[in-house]
Amino acid sequence: MPTEQATRIRYMGNKFDLAREVAGLIERFDPARPLVDLFGGMCSVAGAVSGSGRRVWVNDAQNYARLVARCLLQSQDYPPGRERSVPALTPAYRANLKELNARFERELAAERRLVAAGGSASAFRQAQEKWRHVGNDRQLAHEARALRDGTVESQPYRLATITFAWGYFGLRQAVEIDSMRAAIDAAGSQGDLSEDEAAWCRFALLQTCSRVASAPGHFAQFLTGATTASVERIRSARRRSVWDGTLDDLSTLAPFGTKRWRRRNRVLTCDTLTIWPTLDAEGLGKAVFYADPPYSKEQYSRFYHVLETLELYDYPEAEGTGRYRPDRLNTPLARKRGVLDATRTICGAISEREGVLLLSYPSTGLLTRELGVDISALLGEYFQKVEMPISRPSKHSTLGARHGAAVRDVTEFVWLAQ
Ligand SMILES: C[S@@+](CC[C@H](N)C(=O)[O-])C[C@H]1O[C@@H](n2cnc3c(N)ncnc32)[C@H](O)[C@@H]1O
Repeated sequence: MPTEQATRIRYMGNKFDLAREVAGLIERFDPARPLVDLFGGMCSVAGAVSGSGRRVWVNDAQNYARLVARCLLQSQDYPPGRERSVPALTPAYRANLKELNARFERELAAERRLVAAGGSASAFRQAQEKWRHVGNDRQLAHEARALRDGTVESQPYRLATITFAWGYFGLRQAVEIDSMRAAIDAAGSQGDLSEDEAAWCRFALLQTCSRVASAPGHFAQFLTGATTASVERIRSARRRSVWDGTLDDLSTLAPFGTKRWRRRNRVLTCDTLTIWPTLDAEGLGKAVFYADPPYSKEQYSRFYHVLETLELYDYPEAEGTGRYRPDRLNTPLARKRGVLDATRTICGAISEREGVLLLSYPSTGLLTRELGVDISALLGEYFQKVEMPISRPSKHSTLGARHGAAVRDVTEFVWLAQ
């Protein structure tokens, strides 16, 4: 089902029920006005309005979100089925796999033994601690820099292998991820897959990576196997195949709306705080804006950095135990000190353009809980009419273990300002 599929990229939360209600509110406005989703994420609201035929412009600062939007909202081709993708992907996949298997032959054999059922948990932990990667090894950091700068042969593809192995993924899985990406790029550039089809394959690959990762519900950290139970959990994740997973995931994906509707949509990758001249230059005109901004510091992009890096495939440096890329998005909207001014910037820009704003924000957010801002009053400074048509109980993922419980109760509010 198109409306449910994008939830499969984990860690983004399930926004589909709320999206349906928001889409109902948008119906109140002239259908000639496009919907501009300023923080599109996994496109749940754009998906929910797709049946109405209203054009959508979806923006998100992250490149993996752009990939998802581009597939779901613009693609003219459907995801390739097995009969098309397997022959298109197999030759370059095998070639890349062969080279990486040769380079890491000994390490792959050691991992196979450690992942096998019944092996020693302490030996598994030791191997994990000893593993060298771009973030803790000078030679590998140098190799990543050379790949980044293009001063060394780019084949075989090896970003995940030298950056994330024995962390978020096993070594064999990382080798498979790189080989799959090499195969998708080769099939796309040789014309064995169309550009759209190659994009669908990258989307499916990210979805699979989210599913097979040995991580506690986000990519800010990976499971370290502190207990025997945790080692078992990692082992079971490590047995999952990236090749099979990607092909399975491809068969679950489909675009939203009609081909004609998708031809008229736009996808942008801007910082919402500075997007306004771009929207003007592109001739947006009067529009309905939807904003579902990050609402807590937990939404810092370190929670999504692996997806971003796998989509960009740019061999970044790897910082800290989480092996983060250094240029992660760090928006004032996710900081207690910056959120109020940043929200004002958005309200001001929309009211100057005589736009309608639908703003989603939960009861547990920085503005609401931490700063105690009266959002209706704030919106009233910029708009003539403000209402709060949606106030619904919901559950949010706590994005990991720090809070104890995996989910917490919140109230989702949506304000309508015009
Ligand atoms: C709460 S999520 C939105 C979820 C979305 N409504 C959905 O259906 O999946 C916030 C999104 O805003 C993006 N983001 C955060 N700060 C941003 C900024 N300054 N400009 C543009 N996008 C931003 C994040 O990458 C994330 O995808």
